[in-house]
Amino acid sequence: MISGKKEARQGTCNRIIKVNHAGEFGAINIYRAQIIAARLLMPGLRTQLEEFLSHERRHLATFADVLRARGIPRCRSFWLCGIGGFALGLVSSLFGRPGIMACTAAVETVVTEHLVEQLRFLESAGDWQAAQAVRSIVADEEDHKAVGVSQGQQSWVFKPLGAVVAMATSSVIWLGMML
Ligand SMILES: [Fe+2]
Ligand SMILES: [Fe+2]
Repeated sequence: MISGKKEARQGTCNRIIKVNHAGEFGAINIYRAQIIAARLLMPGLRTQLEEFLSHERRHLATFADVLRARGIPRCRSFWLCGIGGFALGLVSSLFGRPGIMACTAAVETVVTEHLVEQLRFLESAGDWQAAQAVRSIVADEEDHKAVGVSQGQQSWVFKPLGAVVAMATSSVIWLGMML
């Protein structure tokens, strides 16, 4: 009975890593789409977005390493996150710089809140490897959020677009935890 409970907790720890791995692929594709749009319409934003993209690639590799070490496959939501992320990136780009920043702020607000919850769970379960992987991305995500908020919040589009993006992000995390 006790070992069954322990197994269930470990299953949740593994699922958290799978969902984060898929989520990072989603983030990569948001920035990929936004960089394509920025290249055409907002060249001044490109450097910033490429820097964010490089962080997301590193986050993906961090979670991929944990999955590989444990011999567990990626989440079934992986491609959904990628395609959904690309679509969010394109749609947000239609609103220019404020749209891109609203998207970043909304995604990262949901993500950073989620990371805190995940850390609490992983530490209580004693999964130090997974906790360390999560901890290693927190500062980057906080930073992305701060840039998004400071550069987007003055625009009318910030709240409505942010609400849609936040809902999409929460839904995909929820779905990933269910799959
Ligand atoms: Fe990330
Ligand atoms: Fe991020």
